[in-house]
Amino acid sequence: MLLKKHHIVEKNVFVLVLGIFLTIIIGGIVEIVPLFTMEQTIEKVEGVRPYSPLEQAGRNIYLREGCYNCHSQQIRPFRDEVERYGHYSLAAESMYDHPFQWGSKRTGPDLARVGGKYSNDWHVAHLIDPRAVVPESIMPGYPFLAERELKFDDAQAHLETLKMVGVPYTDEQIENAKADLYLQAMADEDYEELLARYPNAATGDFDGNPAKLTEMDALVAYLQVLGRMVDFTTYNPQLNLR
Ligand code: HEC
Repeated sequence: MLLKKHHIVEKNVFVLVLGIFLTIIIGGIVEIVPLFTMEQTIEKVEGVRPYSPLEQAGRNIYLREGCYNCHSQQIRPFRDEVERYGHYSLAAESMYDHPFQWGSKRTGPDLARVGGKYSNDWHVAHLIDPRAVVPESIMPGYPFLAERELKFDDAQAHLETLKMVGVPYTDEQIENAKADLYLQAMADEDYEELLARYPNAATGDFDGNPAKLTEMDALVAYLQVLGRMVDFTTYNPQLNLR
């Protein structure tokens, strides 16, 4: 019956379009509905936390300067990638990124695990003039970041906004946003409370200029935390399976 009437569909473009539409809707529902019944699509991994206010400020600069045009932040689970960059990226590692920085354009290397790979001084020298440390580099220099004072009066509002889209900042973290941001970039302070709120955060005067809190401080603090939240010496994917 259906086969005999098939010419109706083939001759009438509106019926055909309606048919295609219905097929896509059914297919879409079949794909999407099961996701709603899952408790969570991203499994939680120990160590992953929201960015500290200073790291978050650095991340904003990373976006503003378009670093993502040349750098990805997602290590694919292939042998060559894992040998070069380290453990492949877990979904949870970018669960608090709004927007995520996975990317597929790699003019420069992947940065998902660049935290701790170099010293702060290296990053500062490299960002001011990449050729000073990597002679063959084609990366542009960003010397102005070391001059520009970091604007951070909106740190608290920023965390509040991220909370609205699901980043679980606590009231304590939001209240202390400005103070935490400032403290993280100061040399030789008591960081105990800060580190309790943001474990594993790199602290100290990042840009080598203790007199001024600059955009360079924030960007380096951000680069230094990338890939360092999860401890892969103890990470066991089996423990996350139920
Ligand atoms: C035009 C493309 C381009 C842009 C834009 C760019 N980079 Fe790069 N980056 C590169 C290239 C190429 C390299 C490799 C050579 C080198 O180390 O300088 C690199 C290397 C790096 C490294 C060292 C990575 C490693 O594992 O050795 C870091 C860190 C870095 N870039 C950060 C940044 C940041 C932060 C920004 C934005 C402020 C940025 N890059 C913008 C091309 C770019």
